[in-house]
Amino acid sequence: MRFAIVIMAAGKGTRLKSKRAKVLHQIGGKSLLEHVIHSATQIVPPQDVYVVVGHQAGAVQAAVASTNVHFVTQADQRGTGHAVQTARQAVAGYEHIIVLSGDVPLLQPETIARLRDFHLTERAAMTILTASPDNPHGYGRVIRHSPSSAEVTAIVEQKALTPKQESIREINSGIYVFASKPLFQLINELRTDNAHGEYYLTDMARVLVQEHERVVAIEAGDATEVLGANTLAEMAELDAAIRMATARRLMAQGVTIYRPETTVIDANVEVGADTIIEPYVQLLGETHIGEDCRIRSYSVIENSTLASHVLVRHGCIISESHVQAGALLGPYAHLRTGSEIGEEAHIGNFVETKKIRIGKGSKANHLSYLGDAEIGSGVNIGAGTITCNYNGVDKSRTLIENDVFVGSDTTLVAPIVIGQGSYIGAGSCIVEDVPPEALALGRAKQVTKDGWARSRRVQARTAREAGKGQS
Ligand code: UD1
Ligand code: MG
Repeated sequence: MRFAIVIMAAGKGTRLKSKRAKVLHQIGGKSLLEHVIHSATQIVPPQDVYVVVGHQAGAVQAAVASTNVHFVTQADQRGTGHAVQTARQAVAGYEHIIVLSGDVPLLQPETIARLRDFHLTERAAMTILTASPDNPHGYGRVIRHSPSSAEVTAIVEQKALTPKQESIREINSGIYVFASKPLFQLINELRTDNAHGEYYLTDMARVLVQEHERVVAIEAGDATEVLGANTLAEMAELDAAIRMATARRLMAQGVTIYRPETTVIDANVEVGADTIIEPYVQLLGETHIGEDCRIRSYSVIENSTLASHVLVRHGCIISESHVQAGALLGPYAHLRTGSEIGEEAHIGNFVETKKIRIGKGSKANHLSYLGDAEIGSGVNIGAGTITCNYNGVDKSRTLIENDVFVGSDTTLVAPIVIGQGSYIGAGSCIVEDVPPEALALGRAKQVTKDGWARSRRVQARTAREAGKGQS
């Protein structure tokens, strides 16, 4: 057992001013902690990862339970040094401990590996990952033995910096590797005589150096990787950084994104070449889009698959659905869970679908609700058609066979079967099955009274004039 990874994730995140634990806030569609666990498990197997939880421990554990990592509970959060002290029992058997911060989510596995390898070649007791961001304010600063030396004498927190130290740009990333023997021999030397009255893990640098142990630092190649997320403004910056990286990956694969900075695209989204994504589109979760599609502005697509040549017009909302090639959606279509839209089908404005399959070339172009329905190919669903799938207790299905014509403003009371090639008159309420090739009408017979409107007007005028004569 050589390496354990400890992830410190017990803090409240006071600076966020949020009820939710800091590590559960999301960037790029995933919580901070999920990002960190993902990177950690590229370096060691999940059974060697120990997450220190405390604030909202139950919620934090539940959120990442499927990753199979271990949890250590830090009941009182008395600082980063105390977090590692709490993990002592669990990890003392490992030779080296990699410590990651739950609020440093962009860190890449390659950088952890570089830090680990540097720690081994340097035979250090503590190895610190550092960076030199444009604005070092707020971070602990790294005091090197001399500018060119790998050796570090101390880490000084922002609040304790002397005016001279303020100008040091090299910051502590909060990511370290420790040799576990000196770490646990000396960790009880940490004191709380600092601005926050906490046990700072950063003070281990000074404590180890005092005991003639070797403490070294290595700088991350890309400072953005080690940016911390301590405020919601920083969180937004990291979110933008992740999403821009995803947009760049897709653009490199031949996807046109007109205003990438306005789109919200999650990391696992795949899009085929020559698809065009217009401004203000959101592509979320496990969404896969084929080639030569166009996704117009303000559409939100989540956990859905679209084949090639699909046109999604403005303002569509598509969740947990499949759309076949050449289909045409929107504007303002709402495809809810389990909508299976066939090849070249049209689902038009203000049409809501849920758990339906609609076949090749069928059209529901305007103002309809289609739920729990199986609709064949070549079907025309007139404007305002409603499948009445719910009787207050149960949901029932509507089956519409191929080549049916449903007239506008029809209600289809499920369970019901509309036979192949049949025709439903507009304005019908259909409660009985319709056989193939039949015409069904379910509406009151029209009554027309000749001249009625004219005689009503005459009557009204006469009454008005009689009234005037009296006054
Ligand atoms: C810490 C470092 C600072 C560094 C910065 C990098 C210390 C004292 N300072 O400051 O030098 O520049 O990270 O991002 O370590 N946590 C616990 N238990 C606790 C306290 C914190 O698990 O009792 C966790 C937090 O949930 C968080 C991480 O440790 O994930 C870091 O804590 P945070 O309060 O964010 O430290 P910083 O002020 O950012
Ligand atoms: Mg922090």
